[in-house]
Amino acid sequence: MPARAVRISAVDLFCGVGGLSYGLQEAGIHVAAGVDLDRTCDYPYRRNVRAPFHRRDVRDLSVDELSAMWPAGAVRVLAGCAPCQPFSSYRRGVDTSNEAQWPLVDEVRRLVRGTMPEIVTMENVPRIGGTQIFRDFVEQLREYGYRVDFGSCYCPAYGVPQHRRRLVLVASLLGDIAVPRGVVAPSGYATVRQAIGGLPPIGHGETHSADPLHKSRTLEPLNLERIKRSSPGGSWKEWPEELRAPCHRKASGATFRNVYARMAWDEPSPTITTLSYSFGAGRFGHPEQDRAMTLREAAILQSFPKDYEFVPPGGAVQFAPLGRLIGNAVPPLLAMAVGAAIVEHVGAERGAVRKAARATTPPV
Ligand SMILES: C[S@@+](CC[C@H](N)C(=O)[O-])C[C@H]1O[C@@H](n2cnc3c(N)ncnc32)[C@H](O)[C@@H]1O
Repeated sequence: MPARAVRISAVDLFCGVGGLSYGLQEAGIHVAAGVDLDRTCDYPYRRNVRAPFHRRDVRDLSVDELSAMWPAGAVRVLAGCAPCQPFSSYRRGVDTSNEAQWPLVDEVRRLVRGTMPEIVTMENVPRIGGTQIFRDFVEQLREYGYRVDFGSCYCPAYGVPQHRRRLVLVASLLGDIAVPRGVVAPSGYATVRQAIGGLPPIGHGETHSADPLHKSRTLEPLNLERIKRSSPGGSWKEWPEELRAPCHRKASGATFRNVYARMAWDEPSPTITTLSYSFGAGRFGHPEQDRAMTLREAAILQSFPKDYEFVPPGGAVQFAPLGRLIGNAVPPLLAMAVGAAIVEHVGAERGAVRKAARATTPPV
């Protein structure tokens, strides 16, 4: 008789709109709850992940409250993607070496220490891996008895149609665990064309009648002229002098090759940031249409399903909050690979799971 499957159940701290939760669920992990203080996350989280959403500040979450979120008898996963904007590489050129501000990681450490879930996982910007505060966190996990692995994951290798690198950490009390390797070879990387090439065309400043997220920002006349003069994958160097910005006219303008530019069709998109709906904020122009990418396109390039619902029917679709939530999400396909690695790990460590269950079951 096959052994009964072990139930693996995750609580997702800092869950956002649910990119990580959705991917874990796709890998077969039960999602018990998401916690985030942003009310905008409530609808998309409940609607797509179909798990309870707790609008809470993680700093105020007690160990007992967290413990009560997991179902009894499950192998518990704690996901804690504590945000730390100061470490983002988008602050290139700014010395961030003294900005070791990541107070929320200490909240994750507190909750790990208090609940000792069998598995812990976290995703963040790669730069954080080189900081003392991250090394201290890993050291603390090891002191608590966790086996820890972390590494930089290149998203196209996980099927995500986007150049994006992320640091992933996995830790387990059950035995050795490893960050999953991406298995897609460069020749098989998903492209912008495959991801968004089939969406209906719209103009700048328009919203598609069938999808409120397929909405693009209005371009000022100067930017409209600029994008009209840009080729897919090209740059402002194609423009006549009068369309160039002052920064482009200086030699240092070379560093701005990737702003006010169109994406290329046949490669992964650039990293989707919180501002990817803005033509001037990166290589965020549509490859052919004269507009920046829509919020729906940004979400699809993050590997969210095409019908992921971000706002309630009839709800306002605002660029800034939704762009932030989409750009900050863990790409669901990367999360799914992490989830699959956890499922495989728990399956391989059945003996340790049974031992842990006996240790926590009170004698009758
Ligand atoms: C990087 S995003 C998380 C993305 C999410 N893991 C996903 O995959 O979609 C960070 C989230 O942390 C939330 N956040 C920041 N500080 C918080 C706090 N003190 N308590 C709860 N949530 C917080 C933000 O609202 C934001 O949604």
